[in-house]
Amino acid sequence: MAQWLTVWRAAQLVGVSRGALQQRIRDGELQLADDGRVPTDALLKLYPQARIEETGMLERVARIKDESFGRRVRERLLPSQEVLAQRLFAQTQELADLRRHLERYHGLVMELRERIHEGAREADDPRWRDLRQAADRGLARVLATETVDMLDVMDDMLKVMSAQVTLRPSGHEFTVEGRDTLLQAGLRAGLKLNYGCGNGSCGMCKVRVISGEVARVQHCDYPLSEAERAQGYALMCANTAASSEVVIETLEARGPQDIAPQQITTTVRAVTELAPDTRLLHLQTPRSNRLRFLAGQSVTLGLPGGGGDDLHATCPVASCPCDDRNLHFYVARDEDDAFAQRLFGGAVQPGQAVTVWGPLGEFVLADSPRPLVFAACDIGFAPVKSLIEHALALDAAPSIALFWLATRVDGHFMANQCRAWSEALDNFEATLLRHDDAGAGAREVARAVRADLFDIDCDFYLAGPEAFVRELDAQLDAAGVPRGQRIAEVL
Ligand code: FES
Repeated sequence: MAQWLTVWRAAQLVGVSRGALQQRIRDGELQLADDGRVPTDALLKLYPQARIEETGMLERVARIKDESFGRRVRERLLPSQEVLAQRLFAQTQELADLRRHLERYHGLVMELRERIHEGAREADDPRWRDLRQAADRGLARVLATETVDMLDVMDDMLKVMSAQVTLRPSGHEFTVEGRDTLLQAGLRAGLKLNYGCGNGSCGMCKVRVISGEVARVQHCDYPLSEAERAQGYALMCANTAASSEVVIETLEARGPQDIAPQQITTTVRAVTELAPDTRLLHLQTPRSNRLRFLAGQSVTLGLPGGGGDDLHATCPVASCPCDDRNLHFYVARDEDDAFAQRLFGGAVQPGQAVTVWGPLGEFVLADSPRPLVFAACDIGFAPVKSLIEHALALDAAPSIALFWLATRVDGHFMANQCRAWSEALDNFEATLLRHDDAGAGAREVARAVRADLFDIDCDFYLAGPEAFVRELDAQLDAAGVPRGQRIAEVL
C-alpha cells in the first residue's frame, strides 16, 4: 500500500535534488495528491533503483558543503540522546496504535468471515457461496507476505534521525539534522527566518508551534509569558524538533527590505592567501550580535585609520547566511584601493576590530522555478558563491550553471570549490574562462552560455566589474532574455 511523502522527503529518499523532482512533477511524470504529497509506489516506479545504499545521501550532504560545514554534518549527524529518545518514543507510540487498530480490524474480519461461512452452510444460495469465495480469496491475498517497501523503511528511519518542519503560512519545509536548533536548520535550508541575537535573549525568533513537539537545547534568557507558553510559543534559536514532524507558524522576510540595518564590531579571525593577488578576510561577530543578511548582499567594512581617519570598503559577503558569525570576504590586490593595500601590506592582523555596517544591496535570489545561470568576473565570484550555496540549500533549482571569467592569471582562486560542486552534484556545471579584458571576456561568456543553454529560459545573475556586467547584460538582451530574468551587481 502506498505511503505519502512530502516532495522534500521524497527527493531525500531517492537521492535527487528537490528541483529535479519538481521538474518531473511539472512534466507530468509524477502525480501529486491534493495536499501536495507524493505516493511512494509512483515514486518507486519513477526511481526503481532507489535503495538506501545507492542514494549516498549522507555522503552527498557532506561533500557539497565546504570543509567546516561537512565536518559539522559528520560530527552532528545524530540528535542528542534525549531528542532521539523522544522521537523514538513518538514513533513507537504510533506503531503501537497501528498494531492495536490492525488487531481489531483482523478480529472483525475473521468474525465476518465466520458468519459468511455459516450463512453459506445454512442457505443453499449461490450468492452466499460467491461471497464466501470472495472473502477467502481476498483474505488469502491480503495475508500473503508482501515485500517490504524500502522507501517506507527509509522514511521511518529518517523520521528518527532528522525531523521535518513545515512553516505556516508559507508552506516552506526544512529538515532538522543532528543537534541543530530550529533556527540553525531553517537558515541552513536557505529560509529567510526572522531572528535577532541567535542566542535566546531578544525574542525575535519567537514562533507558535501548531503541531508536533519541540525541546529546548540551548540556554535562553528571553522570558516567555505563561500565556505564550500555553499557546505553544517557543524560541527557534533555543529549541529543536522533538517529534519527527513539526508545524510552526511564523513570518519570514520577503526580501532585503525586511532586513533591518545593523552595525556590529567584529574581530579579524584570519587573513589568508587564496592566490598571490587575492586574500580571504575572515571576520567573526560576537556570539550575542550576529549579522543577519541574505545571500548575495554586501556590507561596508570599517578599519580604524592610522592617522585618525577610518578606512571604508564595501564588499560582498562570500559566506552563507546560515553561518552568521563567520563572515568571509575576498579582497583583490589593487594599488588604487587603500583598504586592499592595508590588507596586502600585512597591517590587518587577527584579533583586530573591524566594524561592519549592513546588509546592503538587492543582488539576492528570486523566487523562481527556472534553471539558474551565474556569471561572475574576478571578485564577482564572492556574491555568486554565496548565492550558489543558497540555491543548493533551497534545493529547488532544476539546474545550476556557473561561468567564471578571470582577468588575472591566478584569478580562479576557488577553482577547487567549483570542481567539488561539479563532482558532487548532477545538476551543476561550472565553466571557467580566462581573458585579460573584462568586456571581451563577457562576449566569450555569452558565447559559452548560448552554446550550453539553448532555450535561455533561465534566470541570470551577473556580478563583476562594470565593463563585464554591462557587456554581458547587453549580450543577453540581444539574445532575447527578458529583463526580469537578469539581476546584475557591479563591483
Ligand atoms: S534570535 Fe534572539 S531570542 Fe532567538
